Amino acid sequence: MEITGKIDEVRRKVKEWRKQGLSVGLVPTMGFLHEGHKSLIVRAAAENDRVVVSDFVNPIQFGVNEDLATYPRDIEADKKLCEEAGAALIFHPEVEEMYAPDFSTYVEMQKVSEGLCGKTRPTHFRGVCTVVCKLFHIVMPDRAYFGQKDAQQLAVIRRMVRDLNMDIQIVACPIVREEDGLAKSSRNTYLNEEERKAALVLSKAVFLGEEMMQDGERDAETILKAMRQMIEAEPLAKMDYVEMVDADTIEPLVRAEGRVLTAMAVYIGTTRLIDNFIMEV
Ligand code: PAF
Repeated sequence: MEITGKIDEVRRKVKEWRKQGLSVGLVPTMGFLHEGHKSLIVRAAAENDRVVVSDFVNPIQFGVNEDLATYPRDIEADKKLCEEAGAALIFHPEVEEMYAPDFSTYVEMQKVSEGLCGKTRPTHFRGVCTVVCKLFHIVMPDRAYFGQKDAQQLAVIRRMVRDLNMDIQIVACPIVREEDGLAKSSRNTYLNEEERKAALVLSKAVFLGEEMMQDGERDAETILKAMRQMIEAEPLAKMDYVEMVDADTIEPLVRAEGRVLTAMAVYIGTTRLIDNFIMEV
């Protein structure tokens, strides 16, 4: 496995692979990799001849008061995990390599990026789309792998790929959870012991909603009310949103019908965590 911070070097490597007729998978990450990322890399390695992992904390997807400065980083641990998972190349650029000082071109999306996380983080998906678009142009993969935990991000990226005719297959991978249910996230590292316990309220609310739908409940408000009540009962939790939307358009639903995404963002102390479930009804 190799690691480079240079765009030209990634391009040179990928061209070499292409000449040999090899397929290429991309796993875009912001580093501080965990089992969730590992599952993406393992899947990409099973479905492609070569896998590139990008490891880049993308400044333009953080709002002014968000955690860019404190976002956890550990490139040595990331290298080990990537190697074990079967990656061929890590792309780990400096900010200057990705963004010229006079950088001024952004990918903006309407609607799909505006609800849920887009309400609290109004510039987030513009930053995500822009960097993912850049990564797609740099690596030119056959397939790109994203976690279902960021369900809105997946919908946004799928829409970008469709709207801008990018010839890349987007592969969604299931949420990976800790044994007690908490969805794996690089941000879990911010939680102290007490908050870590309180954070279980997210997965508990997800499981409750899932169970209600499995039992045949279809009224969005009934399901959301039960989930919200559960979150409100946890003293360390502050709800950002709990919503039921169409998984592709992110438009709110009053009844659970079609591909239904029930998603939440909850602050545990100052840490904002997300979780969700998708059900075909
Ligand atoms: O999901 C993430 O870690 C990031 O949003 C991504 C897709 C790597 C873009 O920076």
